[in-house]
Amino acid sequence: MRIPIAINNKKEIKYDIYIQSLPKLKFNTKVAIVTNPTVAGFHLKRVLDSIEAPLIKVVEVPDGEEYKNMDTVLSILDELFEAKFDRKSILIALGGGVIGDMTGFTASIYQRGIDFIQMPTTLLSQVDASVGGKTGVNNRFGKNLIGSFYQPKAVYIDPSFLDTLPPKREYVAGSC
Ligand SMILES: NC(=O)c1ccc[n+]([C@@H]2O[C@H](COP(=O)([O-])OP(=O)(O)OC[C@H]3O[C@@H](n4cnc5c(N)ncnc54)[C@H](O)[C@@H]3O)[C@@H](O)[C@H]2O)c1
Repeated sequence: MRIPIAINNKKEIKYDIYIQSLPKLKFNTKVAIVTNPTVAGFHLKRVLDSIEAPLIKVVEVPDGEEYKNMDTVLSILDELFEAKFDRKSILIALGGGVIGDMTGFTASIYQRGIDFIQMPTTLLSQVDASVGGKTGVNNRFGKNLIGSFYQPKAVYIDPSFLDTLPPKREYVAGSC
C-alpha cells in the first residue's frame, strides 16, 4: 500500500509512505544506514540486501533513550564527514523512534540538510514517530528539546520488522 503525503506550506513537500514488504531500492548517491546493534542484529542484512548504491555505510549507535542526545548526533556527523558524504547523500533510519528522531535531526543539519528515509522497526515508530516530520534529541533540561521539523523523503513500513520485538512490549505499545 502506498500513501501519498502532501504538506502545503510555503514550499510544498511531497513524499510517500509504503506499507509493504521492503522493496529493492536503488540510489545513485552515498547512503548511510543509521541503526543500533539490537536492530542491526535482526534486520541489517535484509536491508543491505535490498539496497543498491555506490557506497553504503553503516553507522551503529548505542541502543537506548539515554543515547538520544547531541553527543550521539555529533558522532554520526563525524562518521558522515569522514566518509565524505555530500549534500546529495542520503541517510536511512533503521530502528525505533529513538533512531528515527536522531537520524532525522542529523539529516536536517548535515551541510544544512540532506535527504533521509525512515525504516521504522517498532510499532510506535511505524504508526507515529516516523511520520509527521518531528525530529530531535534530549538534553539535561528535558526530552526532545533540541530538534527540527524535517520531513523524510519516504517511509518504508515493513510489518515483518515487528516480528523480532518482544511480545509483551508490543502488546503494551498497541494498547496505550
Ligand atoms: N518524532 C515523533 O513524532 C515521535 C513520536 C512518538 C515518539 N517519539 C520518540 O520515539 C522514541 C521511542 O521509540 P520506540 O518506542 O520505538 O523506542 P526505541 O527506539 O528505544 O526502541 C525500543 C527498543 O526496541 C529495540 N528494537 C527496535 N526495533 C526492534 C525490532 N524490530 N526487533 C527487536 N528490537 C527492536 C530498540 O533497539 C530498543 O531497544 C522516544 O524517544 C520518543 O520521544 C517520536
